[in-house]
Amino acid sequence: MRSKIFTFLLLSLVFPHYMFHQPLIFVNGDMKLIQETCKNTKYYDLCVSSLKTNATSTKTDTKGLALIMIGVGMANATATSSYLSSQLLSTAPNDPTMKKVLRECADKYGYAANALQDSVQDLATESYDYAYMHVMGASDYPNACRNAFRRYPGLAYPSELARREDGLKHICDVVLGMIDHLGL
Ligand SMILES: *[C@@H]1O[C@H](CO)[C@@H](O)[C@H](O)[C@H]1NC(C)=O
Ligand SMILES: *[C@@H]1O[C@H](CO)[C@@H](O)[C@H](O)[C@H]1NC(C)=O
Repeated sequence: MRSKIFTFLLLSLVFPHYMFHQPLIFVNGDMKLIQETCKNTKYYDLCVSSLKTNATSTKTDTKGLALIMIGVGMANATATSSYLSSQLLSTAPNDPTMKKVLRECADKYGYAANALQDSVQDLATESYDYAYMHVMGASDYPNACRNAFRRYPGLAYPSELARREDGLKHICDVVLGMIDHLGL
């Protein structure tokens, strides 16, 4: 209720005519579901912007939104796995330690994508506990990669990888917030 009043006040500020010519403003009821759903998550802006890029998001329910966000996470993990594989190819042959760690990291991000894929199956069968567990797993795989770098004191953890780690974890956090509410 509070948020509806807030939204109204905000709209009145941004679009003063809203108060008088309500029909002029297209208030999409389904955008509201996105906003309500994202409010239950840790990264509201990431949630809304990720969902908005998918045209399906305005024509679906809460579970559908979770599935879209899982898809974003799968694409993200897969992209990082590919990025690491390409780094692997460009690493000098005389740097076997770096190659070993990059290969391990590429695998971990691939597993993260698989774990997210598993959570899709879980949602289909309304096994929310398993879905939650699989997304937690996906969120944990980047740690295994970071730890692989830590095992070799000579290897610095690349800042690009730290950025990607945060990116995937934030997406997973958003998905977890959504699943939390689905399971209620
Ligand atoms: C939108 O989400 C649906 C459901 O998860 C997915 O199948 C589709 O590939 C997504 N579209 C884009 C453009 O990402
Ligand atoms: C994945 O995360 C990285 C790091 O935040 C970001 O730069 C990239 O745009 C994301 N990719 C997708 C497909 O969301």
